[in-house]
This record gives sequence, structure tokens and C-alpha cells, in this order.
Amino acid sequence: MRCALGALLWLLASVAIAAEAEHGDGAGRVAVPGLAAAGKGGHADTDMYSPDGADIDAFGRAVGVLQRYQAALVRHHATRRGYIMRPTTCRDLSGVFPGFAQRYVRGAARLIARLVGLADEAGAHHRTAPAGPRPKAVVQAIESVNELAAREHEGALFVLAEMAMYGRYGADVDPAAAFERYQQLATASGNATAQYMLGVFYATGLGGIEQQNSLALLYMTLAAIQGHTAAEATLAFRHLSGIGVPVTCGKALGYYQTVARKAIRYYLDGPPLGRQMPEYQVRLADDNGGTYGVRTGPYSLHKVVDRQAFGELLSYHQQSARDGDIKSCITLVDLYYHGHRFGPSNYTTALSYARTVLDALFTGQGELRAGLSQSDASMAAQAAGMYGVMNLRGEGTAVDTAAAQRWLVRGSRLWNGMALNALGVMYRDGIGIETNMEKALQLFKVAAERRHLGGRTNFGLAMLDVSPEVAIENLKKAAEGGHIQAHFHLAELYAGMAGSETQCRMAVASYKFVAEHGDWLHSPVPDATVAYQRGDLGAATVDYIRAAEMGYGVGQHNAALLLEAAFRRAGAGNSAGAGNSASAGSGGGAGNGAADDARRAWPLFGSRQAHVQQTLAYWTRAANQNMPDARVKQGDHYFNGWGAERSAEKAAAAYTLAAEADANGLAMWNLGWMYENGIGVKRDFYLAKRWYDRSIEVNEDGKLASHVSLARLCIKYLWAWASGADVGDSPLFFAPEPVAEEREEEDEDEQAHAAANEAEAAGGGNGDDGADGVLGGPAGEHPGDGYEGDDWKQGMGGDGDGDGDDDDESLSGNVLFLLLLVAAGWMLLPFR
Ligand SMILES: *[C@@H]1O[C@H](CO)[C@@H](O)[C@H](O)[C@H]1NC(C)=O
Ligand SMILES: *[C@@H]1O[C@H](CO)[C@@H](O)[C@H](O)[C@H]1NC(C)=O
Repeated sequence: MRCALGALLWLLASVAIAAEAEHGDGAGRVAVPGLAAAGKGGHADTDMYSPDGADIDAFGRAVGVLQRYQAALVRHHATRRGYIMRPTTCRDLSGVFPGFAQRYVRGAARLIARLVGLADEAGAHHRTAPAGPRPKAVVQAIESVNELAAREHEGALFVLAEMAMYGRYGADVDPAAAFERYQQLATASGNATAQYMLGVFYATGLGGIEQQNSLALLYMTLAAIQGHTAAEATLAFRHLSGIGVPVTCGKALGYYQTVARKAIRYYLDGPPLGRQMPEYQVRLADDNGGTYGVRTGPYSLHKVVDRQAFGELLSYHQQSARDGDIKSCITLVDLYYHGHRFGPSNYTTALSYARTVLDALFTGQGELRAGLSQSDASMAAQAAGMYGVMNLRGEGTAVDTAAAQRWLVRGSRLWNGMALNALGVMYRDGIGIETNMEKALQLFKVAAERRHLGGRTNFGLAMLDVSPEVAIENLKKAAEGGHIQAHFHLAELYAGMAGSETQCRMAVASYKFVAEHGDWLHSPVPDATVAYQRGDLGAATVDYIRAAEMGYGVGQHNAALLLEAAFRRAGAGNSAGAGNSASAGSGGGAGNGAADDARRAWPLFGSRQAHVQQTLAYWTRAANQNMPDARVKQGDHYFNGWGAERSAEKAAAAYTLAAEADANGLAMWNLGWMYENGIGVKRDFYLAKRWYDRSIEVNEDGKLASHVSLARLCIKYLWAWASGADVGDSPLFFAPEPVAEEREEEDEDEQAHAAANEAEAAGGGNGDDGADGVLGGPAGEHPGDGYEGDDWKQGMGGDGDGDGDDDDESLSGNVLFLLLLVAAGWMLLPFR
């Protein structure tokens, strides 16, 4: 292995030289002679297969058939309602219970579902097989592609690789098979896409390939040398975060700079004012009520509009626009111009609504009509700006600079920032009018004063040589607002300064923003989103994994979420098989049958172990990029020993971070529980109470569970106090007012306790109901998984509290507990 690595490294050097030599010939692809030789031990050039005319025809025909078939499959899936992932819990009840309590609810919900005979929540939504078997023509096409691939036809190898990687043409996602094809292709031709994909395999362990950072680095570098943007972005992120390499800001800077420069070039290549930004990156959790299916804190959910609400909103505005409501017209211009996730943009429609507003508010001579209110005037200005810009850019109409100028001047007179900035650009670049830098600067200045982001950027750029402070000030403000060009120029400025670590970090942050927002050409996210929406979870997961490796926070969050869903499916589908695969994954020497089982149960990573490890890695990286709830998930993984050694201390640390930094109510509740029971932290009733209280504060939804916990805490405190244990000096429960309420709850709580205990007794021994955790996996299969310590046993069993170990809880216990909680809630709290 080491020897092969050495050879490859040598090749890398030779490739670098070859690339250097061929630099500037613009062919786009650099031949990688060495790789072919290494792969086959022969002469690359003579071995290389070159297709003749017949093959080219055959390939073209086959690909045509396959593409038509794929399109039909996509249509078939798209016609069914868009895929909606179920929240991780039963939605209505989960609003009431956070954290551990949720698991009782989930267990009970699952039991009920099982009893009623409903389909399993996760399984039911997996992509179903295509309608019927493959047609004969498609089978033949695949055969002929296979034939060509056997003769190392580049295109054919590529088609087969992608077919296995993304589950196209009715195939299953099979990364292991894709790996072989990509390897063949990389060896045969040095195809950069194939090298990049090999890098992804070695970086992630997809397809059961052993994770090897050195090989990941090597293949990514090979692809990056050939200018593969995704590979460059991946390398940038790895150097930035120190994944498989030491953290080196300078190297990250170099790669991010390359990607960002490509992005900006493409941006400026568009119409005046730059290309329209790509679609917003959707966090899947937002559509499902959050990562946990509930709001856990102030930052845990984006404000989301679902498809139905969006439809209602749209028809409302359309109706009032028909009734002549100007405000609705303006809203519609905006909606149709920028587009929405559930309604793609339509410039023609946007333009016609803008025209409606103009006709209503301006006279034929382009004067504002008399007697307009302040808000009408500002809407008139907005419409004029939009209309002018669309004419300038040729959106919804042919480019018409005269009309653009006319309306932009009118908008500018009304102080519309967009109009001012666009008119400034016309003067600056001499679009349809004589260049006039002075006028341009003036217009930019006013636009900047109107806080228009583009105006600020352009004003900043114009002032760079005159007054750098003013320039940077404006660029910073525009960057804060998310203007990609401002970010880019700030990054260039920082990068150009003599590099301190801080400046490097600042430059990288801005370049990263550009690379991840100006990602028209290289982002896997749109493909992933489309695949997800039609229920093609395998392809979506692979694409989100690629995005995650490139450093997208959204990619990491979504990849982790989908991997978790796959985990639940595997756990629900064959808990027994999951058990096998865990041993097969770690043992390695297991028989063929077990390995096959593992591969079937864990199609992406080949083993349970690798699957959960990678899930944890993505939660961790998402958490490091401030994705909501990811830190709590990380804590859950440590707490349960999923993908890492069980460690209540690490879990507590993660929960503390989430509780303090993100005000996450779920994390607070978990922390309260840990302090209450002395798990992972020193037992401390006072802190336990504090965290429960704060959890109620930030998370109204978790009220009931928190009150129950508080009541239980109170009992425990009294018990500990009565039996002379150390309870600290603070008075705890005798000062605050909710005491009376809690007292009343004691009875029910006692029963709940009993139920929990009973449940633990029933489920603790055999773990037969393993599919019950948040991840649904049999957490009970980690006996002695680094956590044999007495503390743990005491913590979990000693105080007779079943809350934490509920993976082993029996379903009947769950139901009982649930009923008791609900009963208590009904009596004590107004049920919302
Ligand atoms: C790799 O090969 C495939 C098939 O020939 C081609 O479509 C793709 O563009 C190639 N990738 C690069 C980066 O040249
Ligand atoms: C935009 O809307 C118009 C009608 O308002 C419709 O005719 C046209 O097909 C739409 N364009 C697109 C690209 O959907």
C-alpha cells in the first residue's frame, strides 16, 4: 500500500509538471499519462482505447434511450405529491414534550401505528421502484453500454458510474459498484470528475471503502489541478477545518480564492448588475418542523411557508391585484421576479405586474399622478426601479436601454435605491448612454445612502483609491447584507494585505461566502434538492454528502438528517440484520453472507459503524457552522454511543454549548436531567432546577415535560435531603412560585416514576425492542462499549430513573408513561 502511495505521489508530481507544461493551451483537460500506466502496467497511449465510428453511434443511441427513460422515471415520481419527510416524532404530541420525553411519545406512537397496521413511518416514504420492469429497449441500451465499458469506452464507464452512484435508470444506489467504475475511468483517462469522486469515496468511506485521508487528498488534488471546482472547494474546506490535514489558512485561502474568482467571473458575465443569484439553499429540517420535529429554541427554525400556505398567499395577492390593490401588485412583482421555492420566477409575469403599477400611478408623461400618498409614491418608485432594471437586463422583454433609462431616471427622482444604482451602472459602463464617471459616482453615493446593497458595493469600489476607509466601510455594510460582490472585493483586499492569521481568516470567510453562494456551476445542492423532492433519497443523500464535503453547512445538516432517516429505516427494517452488520463491520473477517447482509442493510457505507460515524461527523461539522440543533444531535450521539465512544461528559459539554450559545431549550432540558441524576456532571439540584426553568422560558412547547421534571426533581431533592445526602446550600424549591403547582403533581409523578421503572425492568434485559431510539437503532447492542464504568451503571440504574435509557424501554411502559403524563397535563395545565 505504502509503495503504491509512493508511486501515486510521484505521479502527482509528474502531473503537476505536465499541467504546468500544458498551461494555457485551453484544452480544458490535461492528459494524465502516468495514471493509466500505473493502473495497467503498460503504456498508456497504446493501451488507451479509442472508439471507432460504430461505437460512437452505439453509445449515442444507448445514451439517448437511457436519458429518455430517466426523464420518464423522474416524471413518474414527480407527478406523485412531492416527497415530505415525516418529522422524527408524532407531530401533534411532540410539540408538548421535548427531548427524552419525546421518545416515550414516539415509542407509543409507533406501537399504536403497529397495532392499527399503519405502514412504518420511514419505510413508507422510501422511493418505490419505478413503474414496472425496465422496457426492453432500456435493457438493451444498458447492455450495450456495458459492452462498451468493457472496452474502456470513457463515456460508457462514466454513464455506468453515475448510474450506480445516483441510482439512475431504475438502478439502486450502489456506491461500491460506482467506485469501481470511477476507478477504471480515472485510471484509463485521468478524468477529473472520476478523480474527484474517488476523493469523495476516500474522504467519506462511501461504499464501504476504507477512509483514507491521504488518498482523498491525493485524488482531490489531481482533480483540482485540472481545474475541477468541486474538488477545489472540498480541498479548501478540508484545509480550513483541518479534516485529514493540518489546519492551514493559507492553503484554504488559495483554493477558496480560485473558486471565488470563477464564481465572480461568472456573475459578472451575466447581464448588467450581475447574474441572478442561485436558488436559496433549503434546510430540509425546516420543512419538517425542525431537526427534532419541534421548535427547540429561538434559532432552531427558519420561518417557513409550506407549499399550501404559499399557494394561498399567492392566490390572495392575485385576487387583490385583480381588484386593483397596488401593494399586492408590488408583492407579486417581487415574488415573480425573484422566484420562490414553490413558485419559480417568471419575468414576463413580473414585468406585467410592474407595468400595471406604473400605469396606475404615473401619468402618460411619466409624472406621478396628483394626490398620491407617501406609500403610493414609494411603491411607484419601486415599480419604476424594477421595470427599468428588467428592461436594462432584458428580463421578460428584449433589452431596451432607452426604456430602462427613462424609468430609472423616474425612479431615481423618487430616491429609489435600485434605480439609482442601476442608473449609476449605466453611466459607469456607458450602457446606452455616454460614460460619465462623475454622475455614476454621485448616483452610487445616493444609492448607498439609501442603503441599497448594490449601491453600497459600487460606491465602495469607486472610492477604493480615493478614500479606502469609506470604501471598506461601504463594502462591509454591503457584505453584511449578503452582497456577493462586496464579499469578494473585501476578501481580495484582506488577501492582499500582508497576511496575519486574522486577515487570512477574514479573507477566507468572505471567499467562502462567495464560493458557496455564487455556486451556479459547481453546487450539488440543487440536484440534491430536486432528488429529495421526488423521493429519491439515495441520490439526494449522495449529493448532500458531496455538498457537506465541500463545506456547505446546509449540506452537512441535510446529509446528517438523511443519514439518520436511513438509519431509522435500516433499524426498523431489520433490527436483526443491523446487529449482524455491526459485528461484520468491526470484525472484518465475517463470512461472505454477513458482509452481503451488511451491504444490503447499509447500502451507503457498508456497515452500521461507518454509517453512524459519518452521521456524527456531519452533525459535528454542521454544529461548528452554527446550524441549529446540530450541537444537540452531537450530544445525543455521544450520550448514546452512536459513532463514538459513549461519553456522558462529552454529551454534557455539547448540551452546555447548545444551551448557552444557542439558547436551545432541548439542550437545557437534557442538561437539567443530567444534573438531576448526576450523569456526565456532578449531581447538582440547584443547577438542574436552573436549567429546567430556563428550558421553560425559551421553549413554551416543552412546558409540560419541564413541569413534570421539576416535580420529580423536587421529590428527589426532598428524599436526598431527608436521607442526609449532599444537596448543596441553596434553598432550591422553597422560594420560587411554581412550587404549589408542583406539589399537586407529585402523585402523578410518583406513578409516572413507577411506570418508568417498570418499563426499564421490562425492557432493560434483552433490548428486544431496539428500534426505539431517536435513531431507531438498537442502542442496546453496545454492551461494554467503553462504558462499563460503575458511575454509569449507577447513574442509569441506581436512582431508578428510566428516562435516559429509554432505548430499552418496552412499548407498554411507554404507553403507560404517556397516558400518565397526558392525564397530569390535562389536570394541571390548559392544553393548547
Ligand atoms: C469525464 O468523462 C465524462 C464522460 O466522458 C465527461 O462527460 C466529463 O465531462 C469528464 N469530466 C471532465 C472533468 O472532463
Ligand atoms: C410565465 O407566465 C406566462 C403567463 O403569465 C406564461 O404564459 C409563461 O409560460 C410563463 N413562463 C414560464 C417560463 O413559466
